[in-house]
Formats: sequence, structure tokens, C-alpha cells
Amino acid sequence: MEVDFISKFMDTKLTVMTNNPPLDHLAIIMDGNGRWAQKHGQPRVAGHQRGVETVVRVVDECVLQGIRFLSLFAFSSENWGRPRDEVDALMSLLLQFLASQRQRMLDDGVRLRVIGDLSRLSVPVQSALVDVEKETATGRNLTLILALSYGGRDEIMRAAKKIAQSALDGDLDINKLDNKTFSGFLDTGDIPEPDLLIRTSGEIRLSNFLLWQSAYAEFYFTDVLWPDFDAADLRIALEDYRKRKRRFGLTDDQLEDV
Ligand code: IPE
Ligand code: IPE
Ligand code: MG
Repeated sequence: MEVDFISKFMDTKLTVMTNNPPLDHLAIIMDGNGRWAQKHGQPRVAGHQRGVETVVRVVDECVLQGIRFLSLFAFSSENWGRPRDEVDALMSLLLQFLASQRQRMLDDGVRLRVIGDLSRLSVPVQSALVDVEKETATGRNLTLILALSYGGRDEIMRAAKKIAQSALDGDLDINKLDNKTFSGFLDTGDIPEPDLLIRTSGEIRLSNFLLWQSAYAEFYFTDVLWPDFDAADLRIALEDYRKRKRRFGLTDDQLEDV
């Protein structure tokens, strides 16, 4: 009985080791700033401030872990509906983040990319983003993708409009439109799909993040509020992911043949 158990356990361990799925792209829904602030008797903006510190920690850890793409959901298309003061505070924090992290990104080989409907952002915010994107364009270690004024449905809708226009212009044969071509029209065009998607703060939903791209992502939900999330929490999530078996609709036997 005991031997059976051990051998079974060993098998499992072996499978776990052989699985060890690669992690190129980590996506995070950074949630819980407001609740963190409330818990500490502070205004919501204090939670967002602490949230920015977490971003810096997580970016560092991703560089250390050799992760190539990190997507952070920073401001959703629906977040425009929040009180004006909060939206303004978030935009100032973004500008401060760009100014304070610019040099660090250059030193660490971090390349900034922004996705979302940027036309809704103020001109100073747009130009600060474009500047840092240009400056860091040669960063080779980590691509940091900030989703700002971003909604998955909005992104898919904008892609559909671009596709229709391209067909009308005679540049695209609609009969040749497939998943790959469609993906190319999304804001994430040249970015691989997320392998792991983490959401903090105990909410178990996507809230309109990377809807198309997450079709086969692994999900990890934690109760930790974003301002409290640290490198150790991230490592626990990565460890959990490494034990998973991704089948992509196939059978185990088929996967073993690959
Ligand atoms: C996430 O924290 C940050 C943004 C959405 C900008 P929240 O502000 O949503 O925090 P909670 O969910 O109210 O705690
Ligand atoms: C999702 O969080 C958006 C970001 C993390 C930027 P929300 O706090 O806006 O999501 P809901 O409203 O709880 O679904
Ligand atoms: Mg929230």
C-alpha cells in the first residue's frame, strides 16, 4: 500500500517536472487598491500610490525570473466612470511613474508598450507614454505592457473596424481572414498570448481584460490586495502555474507524443 502510494507519488512528481509549461507572458489584473486604503483608514488614492510601489516590485521580479512579457491592467475603459478626482489622481500617478521609472527601465532593458484606446487620454499623458515607449524601444529583457483606457470588447471592436476598412480598401481578402490575421489587428498584434493571468483581491472575473488573448491562459486568483502583493506572492503563483498541465483541447497521450 505504502509502496503503491510512493510510486504513484513519484509518478506525479515526474509528470509535474516534465510538464513545467513555459511562461513567456504574464498578465495581471491589479485589483484591491481601494479596499487596501479602506482597511488602513486612508483615502483611495493612498491605495493607488501603494499599488504603484507594487508595480515596481513586480517588474523587478519579472526581470529576475526572465519573464519576457508582463501585461498590467492599470485602467479599464469602464474605470472612466469613476469619480473625476480619482481618475485625475490615477493619471497623475501614471505620469509620476513614467518620470521616476524611465531611467530604471533603460538600465534594466525594460521596453514599455501601451495598449488600449489612447485617444481618450489627455494630451500630456499620451505624449509622456509615447516618449517613454520610444526611449525604451530597444529594451531586450522585458516588455512591460500597460493596459490603459483598455477594454477587451473595445479592442475587439476597434480591430473589427480596422479589418472592415482594410477589406473596403481592397487590402484584405475577407475569405482569408483567420485567427492569426484577426489577432494581428488587436492592440497586442505582435505580442504572444498570456500564459498565466493573475488577479489579486479575491475577485474572480476578467472585468473585460484580454478577452480574445486569454482563450487558453491559465488563471490564478489570490485574496492578497494589490498593494500587499510582493515578490514572494508572485513566486507562489509562478510555482502553482509550473505544476499545471496545459492541454489546449488535446488528450494527454497526444501531448506526450509532442
Ligand atoms: C485597482 O484597484 C486599480 C484600478 C482599477 C485603477 P481598485 O481601485 O479597483 O480597488 P478596489 O477594487 O476598489 O479595492
Ligand atoms: C479591473 O478592476 C480594472 C483594473 C484592474 C484596472 P475593477 O476594480 O475596475 O473591476 P471590477 O469593477 O471590480 O470588475
Ligand atoms: Mg477593483
